[in-house]
Amino acid sequence: MAKKKVAKFKESIGLDIGSHSVKMIHLKKQHDSFRLLNYEVKPTVPAGVDYTISDLTLDRFAPVISGMLRSMKINTKKIKHLVSSVGGDNTSIKQIRTIFLPDEELESALFFEAKKHLPISGSDMILDYQVLSVEEKTNNMNILLTSTTKDLLMEHSQILADAGLTPGIVDIESLAVANSFALNNFVEDGVYIILNIGAHKTNMVMYSPIMKFFARDIPWGGFHFTKDIMKIKDISFEQAEDFKIEHGLKTEEINEESKSAITLDISEKTAAEQIIHEVKRSLRFYVKEAGSSDFRKILLVGGGSKLIGLPEYIADHLNIPTELFNPFINLELPDKYRDQQDPQLALAIGLAMRPE
Ligand SMILES: Nc1ncnc2c1ncn2[C@@H]1O[C@H](COP(=O)(O)OP(=O)(O)OP(=O)(O)O)[C@@H](O)[C@H]1O
Ligand SMILES: [Mg+2]
Repeated sequence: MAKKKVAKFKESIGLDIGSHSVKMIHLKKQHDSFRLLNYEVKPTVPAGVDYTISDLTLDRFAPVISGMLRSMKINTKKIKHLVSSVGGDNTSIKQIRTIFLPDEELESALFFEAKKHLPISGSDMILDYQVLSVEEKTNNMNILLTSTTKDLLMEHSQILADAGLTPGIVDIESLAVANSFALNNFVEDGVYIILNIGAHKTNMVMYSPIMKFFARDIPWGGFHFTKDIMKIKDISFEQAEDFKIEHGLKTEEINEESKSAITLDISEKTAAEQIIHEVKRSLRFYVKEAGSSDFRKILLVGGGSKLIGLPEYIADHLNIPTELFNPFINLELPDKYRDQQDPQLALAIGLAMRPE
């Protein structure tokens, strides 16, 4: 994650291209804080349309982004600091520890290290790294290795180019999720779990100022919450989406026939149960890997986190205090956005606040 350091740029754009919606945020840098200039969230698919990921061809995104640039009055030629992200199966991130290596040897050594630690291999792999710290006593280095594929980056650059943008920094999603929290907060020691619940996936990040960084993507999100309701209540996707937004996980709001159906098919887990199951697995893994179970809090962000009753549901099932995280917390807000705290913008804010 980026350390709090002074950024050189004057304005920045954070662009989070999600499967359900595109989030764009425009910030102005002032001294050591940021002022919100503008932001927008625009769906990639018309509301209420049931879609699968494979329906989302690449050409769907550029027109949405262009429209947002126009309505936010952003002159693409003047953008100096554009930060966007890639996520999902073809990206990975891992913190490793190695003996101290001078800069000129680091890159080639890490390439070989990466093969041991990251699931991506071959000539298609693009590797990046960030030295997090050098341990005083042992002189060992803690390094964050990230990798993605050439194909994924090319597809991403094509979307940006089609929208008239010149690609700038491209981060891995989970890193930006960590930044949205770490750059915004004074955190105490201990481990914070951040869940960015999107439509088709949830980025899970374990962030700690002193312990190991861990991140993975869980293939469940808000889309699957809607699918559950659709099945349980036997209604259309559009009706289920409306129902979800109005009632969330508050089972007392759901009528009798569907209440029993929520736990009806024992063999089939609901999306909420799947997420709990996967988070539990990762927590167990983390305890083994990092040797710490000092879990302080679960912070929820992403559109899916707005599901009514979800923080309580997660807290009950994992026994860790859980709350929505307000990513606008440290931004200076103009009057028209004074009470803004939409967690759906967290990743975009993490991107825009990233130092060069
Ligand atoms: N008020 C709300 N209550 C419940 N769910 C909501 C609410 N508002 C939005 N959502 C859900 O949030 C999801 C979209 O969130 P988000 O924009 O973070 O996803 P995305 O980034 O497009 O998806 P992904 O990262 O999986 O590609 C959708 O499933 C939508 O139904
Ligand atoms: Mg997303």
